[in-house]
Amino acid sequence: RILIIDFGSQVTQLIARRVREQGVYSDIVPFNNAEGAIDDPSIKGIILSGGPASVTEATTPRAPDGVYEKGVPVLGICYGEQTMCAQLGGDVEASDHREFGRAFVEIRDGCALFDGVWAPGERHQVWMSHGDRVNAIPEGFRVVAVSDNAPFAAIADDERGFYGVQFHPEVMHTPDGARLIANFALKVAGCAGDWTMASFKEDAIRRIREQVGDGRVICGLSGGVDSAVTAVLIHEAIGEQLTCIFVDHGLMRLGEADEVVRLFRDAYNIPLVNVDASDLFLGELDGVSDPEAKRKTIGRLFIDVFEAEAKKIGGADFLAQGTLYPDVIESVSFAGGPSVTIKSHHNVGGLPERMNMTLVEPLRELFKDEVRALGAELGMPEHFVGRHPFPGPGLAIRIPGALSRDRLETLRKADAIYLEEIRKAGLYDAIWQAFAVLLPVQTVGVMGDARTYEHVCALRAVTSTDGMTADYYPFDHDFLGRVSTRIINEVKGINRVVYDVTSKPPGTIEWE
Ligand code: XMP
Repeated sequence: RILIIDFGSQVTQLIARRVREQGVYSDIVPFNNAEGAIDDPSIKGIILSGGPASVTEATTPRAPDGVYEKGVPVLGICYGEQTMCAQLGGDVEASDHREFGRAFVEIRDGCALFDGVWAPGERHQVWMSHGDRVNAIPEGFRVVAVSDNAPFAAIADDERGFYGVQFHPEVMHTPDGARLIANFALKVAGCAGDWTMASFKEDAIRRIREQVGDGRVICGLSGGVDSAVTAVLIHEAIGEQLTCIFVDHGLMRLGEADEVVRLFRDAYNIPLVNVDASDLFLGELDGVSDPEAKRKTIGRLFIDVFEAEAKKIGGADFLAQGTLYPDVIESVSFAGGPSVTIKSHHNVGGLPERMNMTLVEPLRELFKDEVRALGAELGMPEHFVGRHPFPGPGLAIRIPGALSRDRLETLRKADAIYLEEIRKAGLYDAIWQAFAVLLPVQTVGVMGDARTYEHVCALRAVTSTDGMTADYYPFDHDFLGRVSTRIINEVKGINRVVYDVTSKPPGTIEWE
């Protein structure tokens, strides 16, 4: 396994993904929590991430000294290279020539990190993002690559297996970066590269059995991929000791609630309690138009209903949750003070404490795409595991303003047409998330010879890797025209369609 020590770079998670793509398990600890983590004997290599601080200031973070004394290879990336140099006797200075974005490195010498990828004399594109630069390298190191503004763009000490790169090999804009990371994990650190979803599944099943023994587990299904994969995995581990509860809040997409019930009850034969609570939810949401109030109402009702159903089942000691790795990683904050809540996403926060149950979270170590791969490994249908993310509060946050059954019905139809056209055009998998929004705005139109005064439907589609930042999807105009015509012709209540071209930031993905 490769341990990544995080100094707060925006792209630290990408390092873990690149390592895992090589079949090597990798996880992340914040620098201020790394001391104990590095003792683990399964660690065969350590990567120091980039970060926003400046090594030239004495108070900024350093790697624990044990990192360099453990006897395993170390790769420092950007800030990681700088802190490595500062700690091992080199020198780092603030530079007037800051480098951000695309740059080129010239390879000066071979080293194990470059093996089979880069050769002396070649020039290659990399991605830089640094203000400080290394001024003198520690003893034992050689310069193996330079750039215009970084005379120590890559340094190597093959003897100890210590490498430093000023550029970011983990991002796509360093085209050969993944191969350099592969060299570090497989050749330099000597990891076997046999971590696969099949082996993860076997391990996870064993751990679930160990944790649960002959206890009973309940799992809330949301209709989304994470909770579904959690349930199928746990069912494979402990069979009938698992009961699933599906709280249908009436805010799902067209046909989705039925699909969940069919998949679990019929295809997997997993005991499932299906609660139609739509009257309760829609009743309580009546007249609620503030987005946070909608989320809070839905979260509160969900917990109430779930708890009541769990009590009816009785005797469960464990609560299963589809928590993913990005939710678990402690983020390194330099801003000082808590960050602002943009949206309260944790819909069911507080549930485990209130119910006094022990959590079973078998996906805690996985990224979203790995959860999909695990679902496929468990034999779940492709179209189900490949589903776009869907927010817990469902369509309630896609109808700005007040909700009603009519509005939900209208939105469901428009959304289904939009998604059907996206699938037909073969674009579904290229898009991170796509959905329709029903606006509380009416505009004038003309249909046949009559005047209409109906609602506006906004279409949203974004590309993203983690939902934290996003770009609008550049559909061609014919496609948008086709969807617009179909929605207006087929959905009563909508007479105008617009396309949202806002990226995140400054927008968010959802409209509320
Ligand atoms: P935003 O709108 O914050 O969305 O850019 C980022 C991702 O989070 C999803 N999202 C939610 N998921 N409960 C959820 O479970 C919520 O309240 C919620 N709000 C947004 C959104 O669909 C996108 O994938």
